[in-house]
Amino acid sequence: MRFVITIAFALSACALDIPTSSGSVRGFTSEPGVSAYLGIPFAAPPIGELRFQKPQKPNRSQHTINATKFSKACIQFQYKTPVVVKLGGEIPESDQSEDCLYLNIWTPAGRRRERNRKGLATMLWIHGGGYGEGTAGIDAFDGTHIVKNHQDVIVVSINYRLNLFGFPVSPALGGALNLGLLDQRAAVEWVHSNIANFGGDPNRITLFGESAGGSSVSSYAYAYPDDPKVAGLIMQSGTAEILGDPGPEEFLRVSKAVGCDDKDDSKRVKCFKKVDAKTIQGAISNRTLNWYAWPNGGMPGVDNKTVFTMEEFITRGFVGRFAKVPVLVGSNNHEGDFVIPFNAEKGINTTLSDIMTKTLFTCGSALQAMYRANNKVPVYRYRYMARFPSISWYPWMRDGTHFAETPVLFGTMNTMAIRKVDETEKEAIKYMQKLWVAFANNPSDGLKNLGWPKYKTDGKTLAEIFGKNEISMKFVKSDKYDDHCDNPPQVPFDSFTPY
Ligand SMILES: *[C@@H]1O[C@H](CO)[C@@H](O)[C@H](O)[C@H]1NC(C)=O
Ligand SMILES: *[C@@H]1O[C@H](CO)[C@@H](O)[C@H](O)[C@H]1NC(C)=O
Ligand SMILES: *[C@@H]1O[C@H](CO)[C@@H](O)[C@H](O)[C@H]1NC(C)=O
Ligand SMILES: *[C@@H]1O[C@H](CO)[C@@H](O)[C@H](O)[C@H]1NC(C)=O
Ligand SMILES: *[C@@H]1O[C@H](CO)[C@@H](O)[C@H](O)[C@H]1NC(C)=O
Repeated sequence: MRFVITIAFALSACALDIPTSSGSVRGFTSEPGVSAYLGIPFAAPPIGELRFQKPQKPNRSQHTINATKFSKACIQFQYKTPVVVKLGGEIPESDQSEDCLYLNIWTPAGRRRERNRKGLATMLWIHGGGYGEGTAGIDAFDGTHIVKNHQDVIVVSINYRLNLFGFPVSPALGGALNLGLLDQRAAVEWVHSNIANFGGDPNRITLFGESAGGSSVSSYAYAYPDDPKVAGLIMQSGTAEILGDPGPEEFLRVSKAVGCDDKDDSKRVKCFKKVDAKTIQGAISNRTLNWYAWPNGGMPGVDNKTVFTMEEFITRGFVGRFAKVPVLVGSNNHEGDFVIPFNAEKGINTTLSDIMTKTLFTCGSALQAMYRANNKVPVYRYRYMARFPSISWYPWMRDGTHFAETPVLFGTMNTMAIRKVDETEKEAIKYMQKLWVAFANNPSDGLKNLGWPKYKTDGKTLAEIFGKNEISMKFVKSDKYDDHCDNPPQVPFDSFTPY
């Protein structure tokens, strides 16, 4: 008996060891039915000489990687927007590091490569945060619940370099160096090469992301038109249209602040590379949002490889010069309420909020959907309408604020709830996960098979999800929301003052 138990124990102890190109990783059971592998390196630590450089392949670890906890977040300075406040506040500095290029994987329990067994679809999450803040490693983005409810899918989440560490712009670096976007691509390549060992199907990877994550997914399609390595794209409340072109000012401001104000650009970069990361973080820090109401410290710029000028994005959109894989794209009913400066009591300037919602989110989704429809690429479009009570943090919040759909999708409303998650909300979680997983499993027709018609610019094909908090979809014509998208109102960035 004792012998049997010992063997069983030995087997279960190594059951979660999976070989990868980074070394063998040892996971754990995050909940009955789900195996988790957290904190796997997908690139060499971008520190020392590798700061401001493209991601490099990591060395294969000689020992088994203990993949039992999230890695540190990339260095950032967080702003007190409603989303950050409600996600649990700022990430302590002790939980941040320049060594942050890690990913996390959740699979059905003990799943691994098996001969003659079809691989599972994989959903790869890119978090938001204005390219300046955020991390995969928070409870809100725990993939456990999606996998627990859907044993036919794997969830992966990734970190990428942020702010000036991820998006330095300097002539000495060849202009805009969108390292954070290249990190995302490196993570996709890692997952593409390794996911079969976890029981995944490398030919069925779907990217999904929200806000800057959605924008990342959107720009990814333009950057890798011929070799996307993914089978589907989900853009939640963020498309390439929200990208600006920051120019080198922020790099100059911060490098000057840390004492690297050399007129010679290459000397400036050389000096900047030697500065302690914490010192740079301190110089990025500034409690006012920048002109874009986004974190300071840099964001993607035009390099004509990963990010293009807006004119070029539009041209490429119309002629179909993007990865022609199926798309699920959408935005929320009142995005702006959670992306502009707010006052806990007075709320927000609703005029300004409505301009943000339309110009940066509704019209961006409309364009991305239209480009696909015009080029005969399967596309589904939604508008998220709910205002569920357990995450209705302020009385002035309207329905469908920015980020509102994310904790519903992940089934993590309880991590940020102001009251107990109720039965209707639990139903909503199941409903939304079913839709997203159906897309990942069959990007072209999975949603159609659930009764969601493919998007047409002139049909009743735009899905309003959870209108009046009802657990259902209603299909409406897109012109209900897309008026003025041919000439959307200018966002008055100058008027972004504390409210
Ligand atoms: C990877 O291995 C090479 C050769 O052994 C070594 O020079 C390098 O420092 C290693 N890199 C890391 C990130 O450990
Ligand atoms: C691996 O992580 C677990 C959980 O944090 C811990 O209990 C265990 O001691 C670690 N093992 C090694 C070899 O570090
Ligand atoms: C923060 O940024 C604003 C606008 O760029 C600037 O005027 C202000 O001096 C900065 N404050 C600090 C503490 O750096
Ligand atoms: C990108 O291409 C545009 C033309 O589409 C050009 O004006 C611009 O200089 C290019 N920028 C870079 C960084 O190559
Ligand atoms: C609200 O925003 C609009 C649009 O930017 C602006 O015209 C108006 O003055 C703002 N109202 C207040 C009270 O700040």
